[in-house]
Amino acid sequence: MSRVLLIVSGGIAAFKSLELVRLLRRDGIAVTAVLTEGGAQFVTPLSLQALTEDKVYSALWSLTDESEMGHIQLSRAADLLVVAPASANMLAKMAAGVADDLASTVLLATDKPVLVAPAMNVRMWTHPATQANMATLRARGVQAVGPEEGAMACNEYGFGRLAEPPAILAAIQALLRPAARPLAGRHVLVTSGPTHEPIDPVRYLANRSSGRQGHAIAAALSGLGARVTLVSGPVALADPPGVTVRRVETAEQMLAACIAALPTDVAVCAAAVADWRVAAASDAKLKKVPGAPPPALALVPNPDILATLATAGPARPRLVIGFAAETDDMLQHAQAKRARKGCDWIVANDVRPETGIMGGALNEVHLLTAEGIEAWPRLPKSDVAARLALRIAEAMGAMEALS
Ligand SMILES: Cc1cc2nc3c(=O)[nH]c(=O)nc-3n(C[C@H](O)[C@H](O)[C@H](O)COP(=O)(O)O)c2cc1C
Repeated sequence: MSRVLLIVSGGIAAFKSLELVRLLRRDGIAVTAVLTEGGAQFVTPLSLQALTEDKVYSALWSLTDESEMGHIQLSRAADLLVVAPASANMLAKMAAGVADDLASTVLLATDKPVLVAPAMNVRMWTHPATQANMATLRARGVQAVGPEEGAMACNEYGFGRLAEPPAILAAIQALLRPAARPLAGRHVLVTSGPTHEPIDPVRYLANRSSGRQGHAIAAALSGLGARVTLVSGPVALADPPGVTVRRVETAEQMLAACIAALPTDVAVCAAAVADWRVAAASDAKLKKVPGAPPPALALVPNPDILATLATAGPARPRLVIGFAAETDDMLQHAQAKRARKGCDWIVANDVRPETGIMGGALNEVHLLTAEGIEAWPRLPKSDVAARLALRIAEAMGAMEALS
C-alpha cells in the first residue's frame, strides 16, 4: 500500500485537506498527517486523526517521537510528501531551506518526491517572492498542482485557489504509480488560447478564448507522463509545469510552431485560431482622419492548422483532436467539422455567452469520435482535461495493441 505524508499548512483552504484525505483513503492510499501551527488554526488534529486513522504529528520537540528521530522516520515511511494547502510561508521556507518546525524539517530531510498544492490570496501568489520560490522549487524537482483561478475567501478573484481535491488526487496517483503514466514516451502537441491578428502595430483582431482549457489539457497529458509541447497564443496563464511552451501571436506563427514540433503522437488543437487575418496589416498606426470614412478592413483566410495537421501525410500525428466552439446547431456543425478537417475526434462546446464557457472555469463538452457522440457533464476545465487525457491514453494503448 502506498503511503502519503500529508503536510497541512496554514491557509483558509486547509479544510479541503480533509476531503483530500477521504479521497486518498478511498483510493487505498494510507495517509499520515503533519499539521503546522498555522494549519491547526484552520483544521483540528482530531479531524485529521479521525480521517487518516493515524496519529497526527505537529511538534518537532516531542520527546517520544524524537527519541526515534521522528522527523526522519516520517519521511522514510512515506512514498510521497504532499503539502496541501501549501502556504506562501511554507513555500518560502522550502525554497530557503528553513527548518524551524516539524513540517519544514521533514521537507528538508526528505529524499522522497514532493508535491505542493499552493493556496493563497492572488497577490501573495503573484508576488515576485512567491514566484521566485516556486521557480526554485520546480527547478529542484518539486511537483506542483494548481493553484487555480477563481473567487477567493478574501472576496478577490484570481489565481491562488487550492486545486480541487480530485485534481490533487490525480497528481498524487500520477506520482505514486508509474503505471498511471501511460503516456510516458509519447510526444503530444497541444495548442491553446486565442490568436491576435494585427491590424496595425497597436490594434489587432482577437477572440475571447482564455486558454484555460488548452493549458489544463497540456497539464493533464504531462501528468500522464507525456512529453508535451504547448503552442500558446497570448494568454494570462502560468506555464503548466513540465511542459515546453512555445508562445506565438498569429495563426501563421502558430502553424509554423506546430509544424516545427512534429513529429508527435497526438495533436490536440484547443486554440481558438482566428479564421481570418487582415489582408494588408499596416506598418504604421492607422490615423483617424476627420471627415473621412473609417478604413475598410479586407480579410483573407488564415491557414487551417487542424486540417493541416490532420492531412500531414506521414508526419500526421496518429491521433488528431480538434475543438469546435459553436453558438448554434453545435453537434451538427461539430460532426461536419470532423469530416471536413479529417481529424479523429472533435471536442464540441457551446460557447453562447449565457453558457459562461468561453473564458470561464467550467466546460460542458460533447466528444465526437468515429464511434459516436458522448455528452459529458458540466465539469471544471481541469476535470474535462483529466478525462480527455485518460481517453487519449486509452486510445494510444489500443492503437499500440493493434500495431
Ligand atoms: C484568516 C487567515 C487566512 C490565511 N490564509 C492564508 C492562505 O490561504 N494562504 C497563505 O499562504 N497564508 C494564509 N494566511 C497566513 C498564514 O496562515 C501565515 O503565513 C502562517 O504563518 C503560515 O504558517 P505555516 O506556513 O507554518 O502553516 C492566513 C492567515 C489568516 C489569519
